[in-house]
Amino acid sequence: MDYILGLETSCDETAAAVVGINGVVLSNVIATQIDTHQAYGGVIPEIASRMHVEAINIVIEQALQKAAKTMPEIAAFAVTQGPGLLGALLVGLQAAKTLAYIYQKPLIAVNHLAGHIMANFISEQPQEKMDIPYPFLCLLVSGGHTQLIICRAAGQYQTIGRTIDDAVGEAYDKAARVLRLGYPGGPLVDRLAQRGDPGVIKFSKAKIRAPESEFDFSFSGLKTNVLNYCRQNPAARAENVCAAFQKTVVETLVTNTLAAARKYNIEHIYLAGGVAANQTLRRTLAAEGERQRRHVHLLDLKFCTDNAAMIAGAAVQQWQKKDFAPLNIQAQPNWELG
Ligand code: KG4
Ligand code: ZN
Repeated sequence: MDYILGLETSCDETAAAVVGINGVVLSNVIATQIDTHQAYGGVIPEIASRMHVEAINIVIEQALQKAAKTMPEIAAFAVTQGPGLLGALLVGLQAAKTLAYIYQKPLIAVNHLAGHIMANFISEQPQEKMDIPYPFLCLLVSGGHTQLIICRAAGQYQTIGRTIDDAVGEAYDKAARVLRLGYPGGPLVDRLAQRGDPGVIKFSKAKIRAPESEFDFSFSGLKTNVLNYCRQNPAARAENVCAAFQKTVVETLVTNTLAAARKYNIEHIYLAGGVAANQTLRRTLAAEGERQRRHVHLLDLKFCTDNAAMIAGAAVQQWQKKDFAPLNIQAQPNWELG
């Protein structure tokens, strides 16, 4: 069995993982910087880069140790090339290039969003190979991205809808800031929403007009609605605001995803990205999907937010195609997928 060491430093997690080319995860180490950025209510790029420099060698060593592998046993070094924060990406990229050079093994440059999608096909349980039912539709919802993507073959991604303003994770983080819940806001809003009544407050859904795609999303209006509502109703209960906000977000995401699956006649639907951990989104998509005879696959919670196992997982397909990168590649902070 060949093993890939994956590195991820695109935002505020320094991560390293060892994954077999069958998609089995031997180790998945994450050093999170959340505590540091919390004080600022968001990620400070300069601080993120410096913290990656401090943590990268440590997470690499831990990933090897947990996987019970040594560096010469690694067949290739995979790393996030983009999208992400430039200074943060550079740290992982430099580490992977250096290892590829020293050990004379291939370097594999991975798109962070492809990594999020391929997180669906890695496992900590034994599996013979990565089982991927093409074509599939993926709702990618993270702090920086909100996209509906069709994947028809390895590495072939077609984006059929995207946000025209804020990413959904960003909307969660901003709503949490208005309610002074803390950072990152997604899990906090999610938890409070479970205790709230989604019927007390009504936030309207954004209407997307042509020439935008029928599957595009918009969340900036909703964010403003939450802000205005909270200003006008200072006594409103936070759990009801969260429940109403979450209901609007989830209905928008689920309606678009199932409409796209119908239009393109795709049976298999996957979730990806940090917001894929959202309880209401998971529950609603699974229930609605079943009603509409779609096969909804719920991503393992530990692979939703940024990690390096997903980067090594995405690299497996590139490894099979010998899609290797030269050592002089540059970071791609704005690398789009499909
Ligand atoms: O994928 P990710 O770790 O980083 C990016 O690539 O952006 O996603 C982080 C985002 C944050 O905005 C966070 O608030 C959101 O995912 N998030 C959630 C939940 N857990 C994380 N949003 C809603 N509900 C959750 N349970
Ligand atoms: Zn991410």
